[in-house]
Amino acid sequence: MADDLIIAPSVLASDFSRLGDEIEAVANAGADWIHLDVMDGHFVPNITFGPDIIKSVRDRTDKIFDCHLMIEPCDNYLGAFANAGCDIITVHAEATKHLDRSLQAIRELGVKAGVSLNPSTPESVIEYVLDRLDLILLMSVNPGFGGQKFIHCVVEKTRRIKQLIGERPIDVEIDGGVTADTAPLVAAAGANALVAGSAIFKGGTRENYQANITKIREACL
Ligand code: DX5
Ligand code: ZN
Repeated sequence: MADDLIIAPSVLASDFSRLGDEIEAVANAGADWIHLDVMDGHFVPNITFGPDIIKSVRDRTDKIFDCHLMIEPCDNYLGAFANAGCDIITVHAEATKHLDRSLQAIRELGVKAGVSLNPSTPESVIEYVLDRLDLILLMSVNPGFGGQKFIHCVVEKTRRIKQLIGERPIDVEIDGGVTADTAPLVAAAGANALVAGSAIFKGGTRENYQANITKIREACL
């Protein structure tokens, strides 16, 4: 488990026409991971990109590619995302009938396995898969779109998840509505990785990205 705060900009808020440049810019601006939101128009009401696009930008940075799959079903596509160069693959507990099998399949591909929970999903669903997990991603908005308002219940949920995890080396990542105002709340509750889209990509330049990342980081000190 990383002791330092991991900042994972979501490219959902970037300029897709310059995706490779945007990834390079945010990586040079101090991002730790690159968060890739894959949406299918079925599990969530929006469509983004798939493994071919991810593969095409993989060589723009050596940062960890943190892939958040919002697709249902997911099992048939895990291999393609691993081949595309994703380092972490996170599936939604609500999007797979056999969560234990999906997590096992991800690790068998040689990548880290994550599970994501929607705001309304109780943390108890991960109780029996803790030993298969490298990361738990708690949604602090309903998945599908960037720029939504942070749902505060996730702060208490983060505390409960940390209790469930105990000493296991599992990262706890928060996704949705993360800003310099909300980041300290979840960091204090035990989250060690924060995804932010609009709060980081606002301004549109590498200098802005750096200032935006620093602002979130410093708010959590
Ligand atoms: C939402 C995505 C998030 C989103 C976050 O479904 O999973 O990663 O991009 O965007 P902001 O930070 O703007 O809420
Ligand atoms: Zn995400």
